[in-house]
Amino acid sequence: MLYGDLLLHTADDLSAGGPTAQVLDGYLDDRLATGLALRLLGGVHAQALSGGAPALAAFYPSTGGIPEQAPGSPQTWAAFRQALAEHRADIRSWLGHPPQTNEVGRAAALLGGLRHVAAETSLPVRLVEVGASAGLNLRADCYCVPGPAGRYGDPRSPVVLADGWQGDAPPESRIEVIERVGGDIAPVDPLTKDGGVRLTAYVWPDQLDRLERLRGALRIAAQVPADLRAEPASATLARMTLRQGTWTVLWHSIFRQYLNDVQRAELATGVAELGAAATPQAPFAYLHFEQSRAGGCRVTLTTWPGGWRRVLGSAPAHGLPVRWRVAD
Ligand SMILES: C[S@@+](CC[C@H](N)C(=O)[O-])C[C@H]1O[C@@H](n2cnc3c(N)ncnc32)[C@H](O)[C@@H]1O
Repeated sequence: MLYGDLLLHTADDLSAGGPTAQVLDGYLDDRLATGLALRLLGGVHAQALSGGAPALAAFYPSTGGIPEQAPGSPQTWAAFRQALAEHRADIRSWLGHPPQTNEVGRAAALLGGLRHVAAETSLPVRLVEVGASAGLNLRADCYCVPGPAGRYGDPRSPVVLADGWQGDAPPESRIEVIERVGGDIAPVDPLTKDGGVRLTAYVWPDQLDRLERLRGALRIAAQVPADLRAEPASATLARMTLRQGTWTVLWHSIFRQYLNDVQRAELATGVAELGAAATPQAPFAYLHFEQSRAGGCRVTLTTWPGGWRRVLGSAPAHGLPVRWRVAD
């Protein structure tokens, strides 16, 4: 209830004209969907992570602090309020950006899908991601999924997606990624301190599993390069080609909902053109993990030539655990 308590206090402070009102001045008419509360909480969390708000850091598990047990967390609120008052300009600078997360747990869904791709034809993989955020999941093949429903990767990996897979395990297949390319309209550079703080600040300070995965993925990103560009998905698609002797795999996760109708149509056209160009020697796969109209999120794979589309499994929005479809 850390953030629940803090948001209740924040609402009272806003009504009373306290530091919250000064920080949020000019933003109160923002639409609900823009996540003003997330932007505010992220901006304050960034102060704790960067050492600017030590009193608050003492209560945030993300900075080694100990959560307060008192009902309503009065001391945590006092420290939060102090951060709002002392870092008004810095926190306001966070209100001008959309929240930006890169959820490493979703790699469990993408990785399982990639195993299906490699099982269909064993070829090296050129990976392309649209809406890639910081491109952390372009390194999904370096992560580990332990557990009863199949295993993948080295248990010593800095990212272990514990119990990531349930149900019928994805087929055993060798994954060799030889290219990692991504695009995002607002990419975060995972190799900079600022980028690391930005990604970490939007994770709730008491979600230690997510924080551990993120920090592990940042370490891997520092060792495994990826070509991540600031561009819309249409531009990433426009520079995609297929290559003999390789799989070209286009993937995205929790991205499609941000596209307008025109952008969705561009994506569909780009995918169809790549599919039409595919050959047995230069196959193409389109793999995505996206919200389903029926609720939850689905892992869906289509491969060409042939255009064989199948729903492989489902998972909550943060990706863990993936429930793979049980074979009929
Ligand atoms: C919810 S985040 C998901 C990021 C990442 N795929 C993940 O699963 O962690 C959605 C991402 O889509 C990006 N985005 C939104 N519209 C886009 C577009 N038209 N082209 C490229 N990226 C876009 C946003 O900047 C953001 O990084």
